Amino acid sequence: MRPAIVSPLVIAVLALSACAEKESPPIAPSPFRLTATIQDIMAAEVDPAADFIWEAVSSETTAGGTDDKQPHTNAEWLAVRHQAIVLVEATNLLVMEGRQVAVHGKQLEDAEVPGISSPEEIKKAIDADRPSFVKFVYALNEAGVNVLAAIDGKNVEKLVTAGDALDRACENCHLKYWYPNSPRPKY
Ligand code: HEC
Repeated sequence: MRPAIVSPLVIAVLALSACAEKESPPIAPSPFRLTATIQDIMAAEVDPAADFIWEAVSSETTAGGTDDKQPHTNAEWLAVRHQAIVLVEATNLLVMEGRQVAVHGKQLEDAEVPGISSPEEIKKAIDADRPSFVKFVYALNEAGVNVLAAIDGKNVEKLVTAGDALDRACENCHLKYWYPNSPRPKY
């Protein structure tokens, strides 16, 4: 029996239709150039900015009495405002897709503590359910926006309340991704 011969024309048509099937709408190249990891953004922007905000209003008991600290001058309010801006805008960096958790092989802070996730485990958890991660980032954004509003109103009491909410926004996300399995205090 003669072997079945497929004509070159049939091959060409098949190849063309395969191409047509694969074609999808063109994806615009992302304008963003991602350099930092989530760890970098935490360490360089989110953490120092939040510390500055929390320390802007504080009360310290010293041998000489209580030392109450709060912004007074315009320059002091402006300094804390700049940190609130860093914090709020860092949330946009956190929602960008494709960002790594840490540079390969780099240890996370508290890596020796039992229950701390590895960068690979954190990345997997984020990728498995991105909308949840984005929700935690938005909660941080909202907390930051409230901090900013308190600063713009030069309202110390509101700044303290907004600072407490900010702390909870950090903690909620860390509990889910950074140390989900660490033993929690019983209270
Ligand atoms: C949307 C989630 C999310 C929010 C909100 C968040 N973090 Fe993080 N943070 C992470 C993840 C994930 C890690 C673990 C990976 C790493 O170390 O970067 C982390 C790690 C850190 C680290 C350790 C960095 C290192 O060197 O390993 C610090 C410090 C930190 N966060 C501070 C904060 C503070 C302060 C806030 C709130 C003002 C905050 N984070 C809010 C997700 C979040």
